Amino acid sequence: MSRARPDNAGKVLLNVEDVSLAFGGVKALQQVSFDVYEHEIRAIIGPNGAGKSSMLNVINGVYTPQHGRITFLGRVRENMDPHEAAADGISRTFQSLALFKGMSVLDNIMTGRNLRMKTGVLLQALHFGPGRREELRHREFVEHIIDFLEIQAYRKTAVGRLPYGLQKRVDLGRALAMEPKLLLLDEPMAGMNLEEKEDMSRFVLDVNEEFGTTIVLIEHDMGVVMDISDRVVVLDYGKKIGDGMPDQVRNSQNVIDAYLGVAH
Ligand SMILES: Nc1ncnc2c1ncn2[C@@H]1O[C@H](COP(=O)(O)OP(=O)(O)OP(=O)(O)O)[C@@H](O)[C@H]1O
Ligand SMILES: [Mg+2]
Repeated sequence: MSRARPDNAGKVLLNVEDVSLAFGGVKALQQVSFDVYEHEIRAIIGPNGAGKSSMLNVINGVYTPQHGRITFLGRVRENMDPHEAAADGISRTFQSLALFKGMSVLDNIMTGRNLRMKTGVLLQALHFGPGRREELRHREFVEHIIDFLEIQAYRKTAVGRLPYGLQKRVDLGRALAMEPKLLLLDEPMAGMNLEEKEDMSRFVLDVNEEFGTTIVLIEHDMGVVMDISDRVVVLDYGKKIGDGMPDQVRNSQNVIDAYLGVAH
């Protein structure tokens, strides 16, 4: 099944050009170029250590590439700054969960909203004046996300007490609370059982449809990639070895040799 939307072809939201990144002698990314169309779901696949997470870290400014350019929303940069990336609307989830386990679902998702809050913490603490009103508005938005992700029953539950699949959903909620233009998902279905994967796939599709969010998704499960992505980038040892529609990529010999033959 292909989800490609030809009407969006050409409207580039993010362009990664000739990006190289090394850690000492390890070449994590070598002259990688690809683009992401507005409103598409773009998958990045490849074996362990291929450079997938590093690529997301370059896009959101956590890693500074030694070479290359990143164009986001028409602005060209040699490297993204993490704060600028966030302020420009790039948000992400993490391969290893980065939630506050002792805090409630609601409060964890609120942390994702902080960037959008203008009033200082002091006024909010006083629950007074504009701070109070602003906090109420943000809480409404966060409640909307909680409804959307169908986690109402766990609003007040400490995240650490939830099953893993639901924790991943809360992490998605935290990233969504920023109202991102570009959402970077690093293996959102890793470690999930089939049912949890199906749920998460549906939420990713719904986010894309309902919020209009552009999504870059790292995923190892080829079934999921084939089902939900519009186009796929394939990395292997830091190099791009494939780029195209899911079916094209799946049938490319390069990709079969490098990736599909590798058990994960
Ligand atoms: N902060 C770092 N310091 C040193 N080396 C790193 C760092 N981050 C990544 N690397 C190395 O860069 C290479 C690419 O790693 P990366 O995590 O991007 O791969 P990946 O495709 O996400 O793999 P996985 O599927 O296992 O998550 C690996 O050799 C890794 O060891
Ligand atoms: Mg990774």
